[in-house]
Amino acid sequence: MSAPAGPRIVVAQHLAELVETAAEHVRAAASAAIVARGRFRIALAGGSTPRALYPALVRGVDWTRATVFFGDERAVGPADPQSNYRMARETLLDPAGVPPADVFRWRGEDPDLEAAARDYESKLTANVAPPWLDLALLGLGPDGHTASLFPGTTALAEESKLAVAVDVPAQATRRLTLTYPALCGAREVCFLVTGREKASALAAVLRRSAPDLPAARIMRRAGPVTVFCDADAARGLSEDEVP
Ligand code: 6PG
Repeated sequence: MSAPAGPRIVVAQHLAELVETAAEHVRAAASAAIVARGRFRIALAGGSTPRALYPALVRGVDWTRATVFFGDERAVGPADPQSNYRMARETLLDPAGVPPADVFRWRGEDPDLEAAARDYESKLTANVAPPWLDLALLGLGPDGHTASLFPGTTALAEESKLAVAVDVPAQATRRLTLTYPALCGAREVCFLVTGREKASALAAVLRRSAPDLPAARIMRRAGPVTVFCDADAARGLSEDEVP
């Protein structure tokens, strides 16, 4: 069996162009999922990069036919400034009027994060057959992490659970994250990567020069992967790596 072709790279010169291109892609994925299966199941990315994208998704997606999950969450409550759920609620979920019953956040405030992870896995898998997600939106950290799959952590060894709690010494914290089985098993994966500080990591994960980096493993998965990046993040790529 030939190796997966690798991700499609979409480079935009400016953030506004990147946002609209990525938003259009998500809108098309949502429409296709709703036509085919009646629902669009998406896992939103955390961090700061998606703050630029989410307002563009308020329109053009039938959010009454969507079920919203999160790729990961910090060990905080929903009102905490660090919360990925809070960021998405402020930039997308509230403005789009996404029905709260269709939004499944991680219980980051739970003192028992392992229980919170088991709870989340049960929500992700309730009443549906795999693939559990139509689209997983992901970011990229400068160290090649994605979601809360950080290099050197125990979550990388998880090959059966879909959701785990994980110690992240590099961040001096604990996190909740979907695992490789959940993210590599999505119908489609899209990365959104911007900024000069991501150029080295993006080149490394695309070149497979660091095959064990978490984002590299997801980018090499068999299913479709699209990397939406700006010129700053793509500066480390050679001519033949950028379409
Ligand atoms: C998180 C994200 C994480 C993020 C990257 C990039 O909870 O922080 O899941 O994987 O996507 O760290 O973060 P920025 O978009 O802030 O650069």
